[in-house]
Amino acid sequence: MRIDVFTLFPEAFEWFAGQRHVTNALAAGHALACVNYRETTPLSGGQVDDMPFGGGAGMVLRVDVVEAALRARYEADPVELRTRRRVIALTPSGRLLDDALVDELAAEPALTLLCGRYEGFDERIVEHFATEAVSIGRYVLAGGELAAMVLADAVLRKLPGALGHEESALEESYSAALEGAPEYPHYTRPAQWRGWSVPEVLLSGHHARVHEWRREQSRLRAQAQQRGHDHPV
Ligand code: ADE
Repeated sequence: MRIDVFTLFPEAFEWFAGQRHVTNALAAGHALACVNYRETTPLSGGQVDDMPFGGGAGMVLRVDVVEAALRARYEADPVELRTRRRVIALTPSGRLLDDALVDELAAEPALTLLCGRYEGFDERIVEHFATEAVSIGRYVLAGGELAAMVLADAVLRKLPGALGHEESALEESYSAALEGAPEYPHYTRPAQWRGWSVPEVLLSGHHARVHEWRREQSRLRAQAQQRGHDHPV
């Protein structure tokens, strides 16, 4: 997997690139690179954005700036590029990121993530250069960088060798192994703390019962989450 992130703030990714699962993935031959739109902007003074036509607050990332950055990186017309590479614009109006989409993206050989800033992208970037728009939730961030990190984090940890234990990503929240439900609760030592005890079944050493209990907890959490959706307070 080769992930290229286009951003105005490559330094924002330094902490992320140092995380264990990311360094593991890089050591296993995967790649994560940041490309700064400002380095290839055709505009003077490092300009990359502009005021929105029709008025309104904030600035919009320019289509010519993004085209220049993509052309410089891939030596191709971005309109052609997207026919052979997944190019994702991070924007609050995009398709909601979930475990199924993460699985789909983790199976790709390469991803290009486009971060917007301020008011986001000139729509022609999304329409003509991106294969899709992705949102990490129904709220607005100041930029796409955190969203790109969330997506890259979720994708990279799915790759073989990224996590310490191969099985850790299999039976986790929203995985097929748990039928899309959230994960069951975990406990560790001490078995007693302030009178709060660990569920007896987990100390029983009875694997089948542990398994059944976990499935049930996972199902209960899915129901609770569903109720939360039904009655948001
Ligand atoms: N950029 C700003 N807000 C965002 C969100 N919720 N998801 C993806 N990209 C964003």
